Amino acid sequence: MGLELKPLTIDNYDAIISLWAEAGLPFKPFGRDSREFMSKEMALSHTAFFGIFDDRKLIAVGIANYDGRRGWVNRVAVDPDQRGQGLAGRIIAECEAFLRAQGAVVICALIETVNSPSISCFQKDGYQYEKEIGYFTKRDSAEA
Ligand SMILES: CC(C)(COP(=O)(O)OP(=O)(O)OC[C@H]1O[C@@H](n2cnc3c(N)ncnc32)[C@H](O)[C@@H]1OP(=O)(O)O)[C@@H](O)C(=O)NCCC(=O)NCCS
Repeated sequence: MGLELKPLTIDNYDAIISLWAEAGLPFKPFGRDSREFMSKEMALSHTAFFGIFDDRKLIAVGIANYDGRRGWVNRVAVDPDQRGQGLAGRIIAECEAFLRAQGAVVICALIETVNSPSISCFQKDGYQYEKEIGYFTKRDSAEA
């Protein structure tokens, strides 16, 4: 069976968390990445989780979220054994199509400055690196 790209549901929760862990992405299992929180997030009409399956195995994931002003592509991760085949590009393109359908005219991603593979990936997809903009947060807890 070939690769299949499709929206994810909360039934995919364990596979998503495993993939983020394998990909080395930090996550907050007791906060916004808890099953309960992600279940609520997935129910939002302006948010979509997409995944690529190789047979039944989840090998790529990403989240699209439209906040009413900007579209965001979040948490893109690809199985370390499946990288370099354009899977992240496929996830990003699917997220973009969803966000444009929501009305987004600008699409953004937050990427750590040390993450050069991801920076290159988004730049290849046409994203401009806005080096002069900083990321400011106010968190309710360390898990938020
Ligand atoms: C970043 C990541 C998602 C890329 O996944 P991928 O499926 O291998 O990426 P693609 O095959 O779609 O590559 C697209 C482009 O990204 C760039 N790229 C991908 N991996 C790269 C690497 N290791 N070094 C430099 N550039 C890289 C290249 O420009 C590539 O285009 P090319 O193959 O024509 O050269 C993957 O490495 C990953 O899961 N990293 C860990 C999780 C992470 O950091 N996610 C990003 C959070 S913002």
